[in-house]
Amino acid sequence: MPRIKKELQEVKKKKRKKMTSVQVIKGMKDILPPEQLFWDYVIENSRKLCKDFGFGRIETPIVEQTELFQRGVGDNTDIVEKEMFTFETQGKDRISLRPEGTAGLVRAYIENGMSKWSQPVKLYYEGPMFRYEKPQAGRYRQFHQFGFEIFGDEGSAIDAQVIYLAWKIFQKLGIKDINIQINSIGCAECRSSYKKLLQDYYEMKINKLCIDCKRRLDSNPLRLLDCKEEKCMQVATSAPQIIDHLCVICHDHFRSVLEFLDEVEITYVLNSRLVRGLDYYSKTVFEVWENNSEGGQSSLGGGGRYDGLVEMLGGEETPAVGFSFGIERVVESLLKKEIQLNYNVKKEVFLIQLGDKARKKILRLFDKLVDSNITVGESLGRGSIKSQLRMANKFNSKLALIIGQKEALDNTVIIRDMESGMQEVIVMDSVIEEVKKRLKG
Ligand code: HAM
Repeated sequence: MPRIKKELQEVKKKKRKKMTSVQVIKGMKDILPPEQLFWDYVIENSRKLCKDFGFGRIETPIVEQTELFQRGVGDNTDIVEKEMFTFETQGKDRISLRPEGTAGLVRAYIENGMSKWSQPVKLYYEGPMFRYEKPQAGRYRQFHQFGFEIFGDEGSAIDAQVIYLAWKIFQKLGIKDINIQINSIGCAECRSSYKKLLQDYYEMKINKLCIDCKRRLDSNPLRLLDCKEEKCMQVATSAPQIIDHLCVICHDHFRSVLEFLDEVEITYVLNSRLVRGLDYYSKTVFEVWENNSEGGQSSLGGGGRYDGLVEMLGGEETPAVGFSFGIERVVESLLKKEIQLNYNVKKEVFLIQLGDKARKKILRLFDKLVDSNITVGESLGRGSIKSQLRMANKFNSKLALIIGQKEALDNTVIIRDMESGMQEVIVMDSVIEEVKKRLKG
């Protein structure tokens, strides 16, 4: 190809590159105002219930030392093995965007001396989490969790309270077609003899397993139980069940959790294959599953007890239990159900302006009305009076305040009753008084 043609092609290529717009990172998304209504609804209701149940809010940084997750969540988990966003800082520290909230909360519990606080310590949190997963429906690389944790109480009533609160949040949000999938994975002792049994069982079926399961058989045999590969699911159906191999303490603890759930009439399903994908759990583990319209089930949230984690991360021996749900998944469920949110988009007063001078007056008037706790809408664009009145109707405004060129010069305002269409001119100084009077009337 002649040199000049090649150069021209290069220029064109560069130009095209310059003009393509920058796009959001794969697996991440913008959350726009219409969807934010649902986010507010989910977060506000969840916060309210957590406060009613005696939880205090905590925020931890979205990045932590990578080691926290390696030790906390577990080196052999999918999350730590392949899903973390990890960086080296200029100071050569290895840090990771948090893939989940619990490990950070445990670090904060230890570092802030919360073991000296009156126990149990009940904390709730919300915020973005990051996992480098294959994006698909309901699975993102940046997603948000709402969660709560209770530290310092080993009683089964606390497990039940956490499950009850999770249940209550979904009921309150209007997501009612759910069930609790529950299992106990025992303590370190009963689990280690069970793991051996499991390994023996799977060794005999090794040819029927997927590559991941073959690899995990030594390091993390429990995870074989919840592999989603068809052939591994077949093998798992006849695997020994941990419930039959719990020690007396774990067995009694689990029985008691179930009795509490019966007492508060929560629908649960005993699921011997539920082991969860994080290494810190002991005893009770559970997930909230929603029945979806396609006849399947999807997991909205998960949690469980993690009695060894505080000690493993350098704190005193402290039992703990918690739960978190994915806000995106919950919002998507609400959107599918076409739940109507009763959000007040009503503006009591709408400000209408015609011309530059009027626009300046409107800015100040808007401020005064807001300071007087009056809900107010405005249109600062160049629309006609007709289009601005249409907007006032859309906001269900009772009154419109109209300022044209003449009113701007006279320091007056036209006040219009939107229902009757009656209009009156009043002086600017008495606007707030007059509006309050008419809104009351
Ligand atoms: P998890 O099951 O890994 O548990 O995550 C909890 C929830 O976060 C999931 O049920 C799901 O709704 C949401 N989630 C997880 N990954 C994604 C993703 N890639 N995209 C969208 N949503 C996602 C935990 O994280 C534990 N920290 C829960 C816990 C709290 N255990 C004790 N306390």
